[in-house]
Amino acid sequence: MVTKRAQGTNLSKQLIDKIKNRSAKVGIIGLGYVGLPLSVELAKDGFKVTGFDVSKAKVKLLNAGKSDIDDVPDSDVAEIVKSGCFKATIDPKLLSQMDTISICVPTPLSKTKDPDVSYILAAVKWVKDYIKKGTLVVLESTTYPGTTEDLILPILEESGYKVGKDIFLAFSPERVDPGNPTFTTKNTARVVGGITPACTRVAKTFYEQSIPNIHGVSSTGAAEMVKLLENTFRSVNIGLVNEVALMCDRLGLDVWEIIDAAATKPFGFMPFYPGPGLGGHCIPIDPHYLSWKLKSLNYYARFIELAGDINSHMPEYVVQRISNVLSKRLAKSINKASIMVLGVSYKRDIKDTRESPALDVIKLLEEKGARIEYNDPFVPQIDWNLSTHKSKRLTADRLKKADITIILTDHTQYDYQWIVSNSKLVFDTRNATKKVSKNRGRIDLL
Ligand SMILES: NC(=O)c1ccc[n+]([C@@H]2O[C@H](COP(=O)([O-])OP(=O)(O)OC[C@H]3O[C@@H](n4cnc5c(N)ncnc54)[C@H](O)[C@@H]3O)[C@@H](O)[C@H]2O)c1
Repeated sequence: MVTKRAQGTNLSKQLIDKIKNRSAKVGIIGLGYVGLPLSVELAKDGFKVTGFDVSKAKVKLLNAGKSDIDDVPDSDVAEIVKSGCFKATIDPKLLSQMDTISICVPTPLSKTKDPDVSYILAAVKWVKDYIKKGTLVVLESTTYPGTTEDLILPILEESGYKVGKDIFLAFSPERVDPGNPTFTTKNTARVVGGITPACTRVAKTFYEQSIPNIHGVSSTGAAEMVKLLENTFRSVNIGLVNEVALMCDRLGLDVWEIIDAAATKPFGFMPFYPGPGLGGHCIPIDPHYLSWKLKSLNYYARFIELAGDINSHMPEYVVQRISNVLSKRLAKSINKASIMVLGVSYKRDIKDTRESPALDVIKLLEEKGARIEYNDPFVPQIDWNLSTHKSKRLTADRLKKADITIILTDHTQYDYQWIVSNSKLVFDTRNATKKVSKNRGRIDLL
């Protein structure tokens, strides 16, 4: 007689063998900044990958060999579609054929800064309805500690399968940094934690096939907390350096000079840089998942709340500084000023505008009566204050006509020397004009 424990061991062994010999069918739910690069790597490494999404338009685009993600070139998608290693679908029934399923759906915050896990719940419901015995399920979406075990496990077990015996469940946080030319999904180490040791083993084996450096932790909760530590670390350090920028302004010091000098210390200091605020789908959001969870345990996460407070007030500070520069240098009030904004995406060289602080700055400037035009080579149009705006061509004439040019995102393709030479004044929130030698007198730095 085969015991239940032996059955579980056999199933995990069978799945590990299938993964190693590439016969395992791989499903990825959510084909965005996280799910698409992962699909490409796995397909290039010889897996048959099916990508699941709710967006018909996205599925159509991908199956036509085109990408909508900055870091994934069309040629990569075209190659894996052509080789038959990748197809995208909106049909959840195909999940029943998958041996591994990675969930990469969004995890935004609600208006009251509570975690919105509705996308995870919708994806897990799909999985529960179609999962077969012997499948690995991995959550990659960033979330609060306890989500995989307390929220996902009970839903998956409604399928009648026991986690750790019939199916395997793990959490592995995605660390991809869109726009980073050095570190990609492939060469960034991965953390994996399973519900049981067998779950961890299977999940580690799966990711090892494409990512050389895998670090196992003792539980799904530990893996969830790792991601939140990483992003809270960034948020708190950015909050600190933003506050140092406010201090330097009062002290009459140049914060950029201070950071560069401090960064010459080869140990015990890591440079972070100030800016107009926090943006993107991760750093402004993830720490609040942690503080929300801690509130339910009667603990107030002080560092997180303080950093969130400082970072979220940076757009107001930037507007105040612009107002001061205009009145001091041009004797002009903000409500009479015409302003050229450069860069609206949340960071350089990508088109993602989610949570972009540039939009907060623009809205505040417009509310104060300023006339705004913008240029962003990655963002042809964008909505703010209830209307749609188009990126204007960057011409010397346009720069000369504006009272001030504001650099909110430091795209590398901008010619900063040319921008400064053609602008009356420049307010630079990113120290993008660091190397500009001529006309430095026109530049005001954050
Ligand atoms: N973007 C990043 O830099 C980054 C980095 C690390 C981790 N993360 C985390 O990864 C997760 C995904 O982020 P992203 O940036 O890839 O999001 P995204 O918005 O770029 O992509 C998510 C995709 O999921 C699809 N989707 C939504 N609900 C679905 C459902 N129920 N079923 C199937 N598909 C669905 C959407 O249509 C979209 O294509 C989030 O938890 C995020 O915090 C993101």
